[in-house]
Amino acid sequence: MAELIVALDFEKAEDAYLLAEKIQGEVPWVKIGLELFIAEGPYIVKKFKEMGFNVFLDLKLYDIPNTVKGAVYSALKAGADMLTIHLSGGKRMSEAALAVCNKQKSGMKIFGVSVLTSFDEGELIGYQGKLSDLVQLLAKNAEEWAMHGIVCSGLEVEKIKSIAPNLLCLTPGIRFDDNKSDDQRRVMTPYNAVMAGSDYLVVGRPITRADDPKSVAKRINEEIQKAKKDKNR
Ligand code: C5P
Repeated sequence: MAELIVALDFEKAEDAYLLAEKIQGEVPWVKIGLELFIAEGPYIVKKFKEMGFNVFLDLKLYDIPNTVKGAVYSALKAGADMLTIHLSGGKRMSEAALAVCNKQKSGMKIFGVSVLTSFDEGELIGYQGKLSDLVQLLAKNAEEWAMHGIVCSGLEVEKIKSIAPNLLCLTPGIRFDDNKSDDQRRVMTPYNAVMAGSDYLVVGRPITRADDPKSVAKRINEEIQKAKKDKNR
């Protein structure tokens, strides 16, 4: 597997469309986050679907089970192919989200966010342990709850695959070795992320801020293909 998702972190729909047009045909997925979704609404999902993209709606839902259930249904009606919720919302919230997908027989996948990568050790209120232990605990739970996947750093994929082999891993923080990492700290190259077992690679600025976004996407896809071949050897 291993597919490329481009994060369209733009404030205005026009800028997101312009970028999407440039990568059409090379990139199978776009990611719509809170900024663009709140500014433009569910219509934007349909627009990207019409352009031929699969849509990853990264809304990181966290609320009481009934409210999340309603929001998942709305995301599904909007046409999203993938949606995020917070695993810290617990078993009942996660299962309520999954139940909507199963009942509607939709192919939409629900991914759980483990611990936000913006958290530093000691910053989580009421938790004194290591963040990596918490990520692993959440991954085990996510597998038990039959979540489709988990959002994690490329550096965590190997461990997660060993303790929760059925979870798909979606990894942001992808950078070329020769690329500056912006504000990301725990980065990995596309090749290494696929070799580690990542199923979806989320890439934002290395593509969206490039002079030629399509050629950067092509380079990433070539690395993905090479890693797939090397893995199967
Ligand atoms: O520009 P860059 O490649 O860093 O973008 C990565 C994308 O992945 C952004 O949309 C960011 O919000 C998202 N993301 C992340 N780390 C997480 C979850 C999501 O960087 N843990």
